[in-house]
Amino acid sequence: MKICCIGAGYVGGPTMAMIAKQCPDIPVHVVDLNQERIDAWNSDSLPIYEPGLDEVVREARGRNLKFSTDVDAAITEADIIFMAVNTPTKTFGVGAGRAANLEFVEKCARRIAEVAEGHKIVVEKSTLPVRTAEAIKRILGAGASGATFDVLSNPEFLAEGTAIDDLLDPDRVLIGGESTEAIEALVNVYARWVPREQILTTNLWSSELSKLTANAFLAQRVSSINAISALCEATEADVDEVARAIGMDSRIGPKFLKASVGFGGSCFQKDILNLVYLCEHFGLREVAAYWEQVVIMNDYQKRRFAEGICRTMFSTVSDKKIAVWGFAFKKDTNDTRESAAIYVCRDLLRERARLAIYDPQVPEAKIRADLIASMSNLAGEISDLDRSLVEKNVTIVGDGYEAAKDAHAIAVLTEWDEFKTLDYKKIYGTMKAPAFVFDGRNVVDRKRLTEIGFEVFGIGKSG
Ligand code: NAD
Ligand code: UGA
Repeated sequence: MKICCIGAGYVGGPTMAMIAKQCPDIPVHVVDLNQERIDAWNSDSLPIYEPGLDEVVREARGRNLKFSTDVDAAITEADIIFMAVNTPTKTFGVGAGRAANLEFVEKCARRIAEVAEGHKIVVEKSTLPVRTAEAIKRILGAGASGATFDVLSNPEFLAEGTAIDDLLDPDRVLIGGESTEAIEALVNVYARWVPREQILTTNLWSSELSKLTANAFLAQRVSSINAISALCEATEADVDEVARAIGMDSRIGPKFLKASVGFGGSCFQKDILNLVYLCEHFGLREVAAYWEQVVIMNDYQKRRFAEGICRTMFSTVSDKKIAVWGFAFKKDTNDTRESAAIYVCRDLLRERARLAIYDPQVPEAKIRADLIASMSNLAGEISDLDRSLVEKNVTIVGDGYEAAKDAHAIAVLTEWDEFKTLDYKKIYGTMKAPAFVFDGRNVVDRKRLTEIGFEVFGIGKSG
């Protein structure tokens, strides 16, 4: 048995490293077109920051885990081929801004159809619209090589920042398919470390749809508590107290009720928009509108946060220095895709604020590229003024203290643990008065900071 995975990103890399670690006798070959990414996977500085990942890769790489750009060889050798390529929201043509761009998945399927020999199990690891397997089967079936295929859906539920724990001890593994033998072959891989009762098998379409549904439900919880946070701010209720009170109802449960500046990440928005597009495609307008509201609420939350900063700071942030703490979309990752920080920074820059941004894991070039992209229109054009705002009004600094020096305000946009233990007395002494803290993650100790002299504003907190 040999495995290959096309796509060495946030899913392909960690997932395959875990399979290789847990199944030392199965050769696992991860391939990507991106040479730089593959070089990083083969180096001591992995392309992804993920707690515990280095150890897993170190254990398996060179033994039964290999990273390369040799896509054709990997396909030819493998019995099971995972497709873990990106499926971003389409930015052009029919369905732009909503539908998933399936170009990369289709290219993988075509490559497999072209070079495969014998029998292969092709596994959808990427998150895909329901019924994509139908198209994949047709593309594979049209290949001239004479190879035969089974297609399985095996969506990934890991969250960034906890990927290794999620892979080691998943709530469930989901495998959808038609062929019992193919399903059993993949079940046997996971069963090396996941209890059998946690490996669910379903039909193809339920598996594909369950992935979109899981992300929609998770994002909906965040938008629900964020909607309530706005009401808390208007009524002196405290959103953490409300979350605790409702979360103790076992039917609701305590997880995923942390109010925030808005959810980010590469998937929640993309997958909900994909779901909305599918509903519209099937003529289910009310269902589409219902789910779209989750994204609309999230946009409102990000905008509301930036507007709140401006309003509180006497209705102008022009030429004021604001320390931005955190740029990643959540703690313990270097991923910034759809991070709320991008949009809050963009709005503040358009108000002519000066930003000093600090994130412990995101490199300067990435922050600047994200901000430039956020200013661009759909055609990728950016005005000279917007470009100069990113170039002249943004500095990237090495820690939270440096960011806060001479600043009028601090905006906490990612919940990195280190922000809880900084010397706030020292920080207060270096800031302009009144010194504002806008805590978009409710991580700072409000009472202590207020005693020091800060004016503290949290999400879903009044005063
Ligand atoms: P990513 O962009 O980090 O990685 C995708 C990789 O695929 C890239 O390195 C790209 O170069 C490569 N690629 C694209 N086309 C290729 C081709 N034809 N041949 C070889 N390589 C190719 O994306 P990701 O975050 O790993 O997400 C991958 C999929 O998994 C998406 O569908 C996503 O929705 C889903 N997913 C992501 C997460 C997550 O936490 N990021 C979790 C669950 C599911
Ligand atoms: C999410 C899901 O949790 C995974 O199960 C799924 O596999 C993945 O998407 C995917 O398909 O890509 P991820 O986006 O990595 O994982 O991280 P989450 O922990 O879900 O956080 C997403 C966003 O919601 C973050 O910006 C986070 O800060 C925010 N969030 C989360 C809140 O604001 N409040 C919460 O209570 C929870």
